[in-house]
Amino acid sequence: MNLLGYLFKSSIGRKFLMAFTGLVLFGFVAGHLAGNLQIFLPPARINAYAHMLESLGAGLWLIRAFLLLCLVIHVWLAIQLTLENRAARPQAYGVEHVNRATLASRLMARTGIVVLAFIPFHLAHYTLRVSHPGWSEHTFRLADGTLVRDVHAMMIEGFGNWPVSVFYIVAVGILAYHLSHGIVSSIQTIGLKNERWTAQVERLSVACCWLYFLLNAAIPLAVLGGFVRA
Ligand code: HEM
Repeated sequence: MNLLGYLFKSSIGRKFLMAFTGLVLFGFVAGHLAGNLQIFLPPARINAYAHMLESLGAGLWLIRAFLLLCLVIHVWLAIQLTLENRAARPQAYGVEHVNRATLASRLMARTGIVVLAFIPFHLAHYTLRVSHPGWSEHTFRLADGTLVRDVHAMMIEGFGNWPVSVFYIVAVGILAYHLSHGIVSSIQTIGLKNERWTAQVERLSVACCWLYFLLNAAIPLAVLGGFVRA
């Protein structure tokens, strides 16, 4: 069996792929948050950052293609794993067997589905700007005279709508909950977790996920509260 066959067919290979793709996607959402937090700086910062990303041209498409591939593999293996676990679950006693698994671990499929549904909504909202085609015409002049898209104004207008903001906050809360188990499980799979540190790794992961949630939620809340303005 070649390496790809081994990774996709063996149970250990599939676990490794789940962990690897999960950690790549976590890296993306953490980096994305860092970029978005520039909304708290003068507008030129986030607009120059968005312009820099767009200027990557083919490089940006390569990154997008790699992230999409990771997402597809992660979701595909998650579906397989869920179906296999369901098929293997003993039905004899008619009661659900509750083991030491945490609630977050048992809700991974459901929280994953919500995150998956959030992505097309979010892309349609801010990347494709389906509901507000006019956002593409908002422009901003950088200090060096370059005319760029005004992503800062777009975010302020977008999160000025409170139902949209509430939806984002709930979605990132559910993503943070998904990550709170995903990070621990991935670390365990790639062999970095040792029994002595189990509790500490779990606590650190939960703390990171809380921080991730609070920093993300701060963006729409700051816009709604009028702390960040155009
Ligand atoms: C409060 C949280 C979030 C905010 C404020 C936010 C903001 C944004 C904005 C403004 C853009 C468009 C950038 C541009 O027009 O240049 C964008 C793109 C994107 N966001 Fe988010 N986002 C958030 C959460 C998320 C989450 C949780 C995910 C993934 C699960 C995500 C995935 C993406 C992707 C894939 C893109 C497209 C990137 C590209 O163009 O290649 N975002 N986000």
